Amino acid sequence: MGEMDGLEVTDCTRCPELVDSRSQIVNGTGPADADLLFVGEGPGAQEDEQGEPFVGRSGTVLDDKLRERGLARQDVRITNCVRCRPPENRDPTAEELENCWPYLESEIEQVDPEVIITLGKVPSEHLLDRDVAVTKEAANVEQVDLGGAVRDVLVCVHPAATFYDRSQEESLDAAFDKAAAMADGDSNGQS
Ligand code: URA
Repeated sequence: MGEMDGLEVTDCTRCPELVDSRSQIVNGTGPADADLLFVGEGPGAQEDEQGEPFVGRSGTVLDDKLRERGLARQDVRITNCVRCRPPENRDPTAEELENCWPYLESEIEQVDPEVIITLGKVPSEHLLDRDVAVTKEAANVEQVDLGGAVRDVLVCVHPAATFYDRSQEESLDAAFDKAAAMADGDSNGQS
């Protein structure tokens, strides 16, 4: 049904609709021991085509936000809740999220990051296992038992939210400021 080799899912047929809609499985990228692990929702068209997460328009925002804080894409790990593009970019279903969870949990366990940053509503609710108002809660850190340890999960708005609503930029910046501070070794994200 599904196979993982280290951090890579090499084959998976757990979600019949996604097996049909995907061009390929999109695994996480970045160092296997990164301090920061960013988790998005799922691959879009560009990601599906290129086989890498956040390489489209939202990826440009992500790259910019990292660069503004002296970080580069190569310094962080970037992955998604589901590794196959849902048809027409619909949200992944609860079943698809569940099917892909063992892969994400294993990635979290292997990377063992200082902080997990959830990009948008879907990953925030998936990892915190509750309703999340991402704009209001952006930059909040919650401790969650995930991948064999209690981990800091930092809520962030999805980078694409800024395309439709510029006011989301403030929430995005607050979360990235906190993430950068936590990567610097400040566990509260306060400098
Ligand atoms: N949006 C996501 O949530 N993930 C990606 O990889 C790209 C866009």
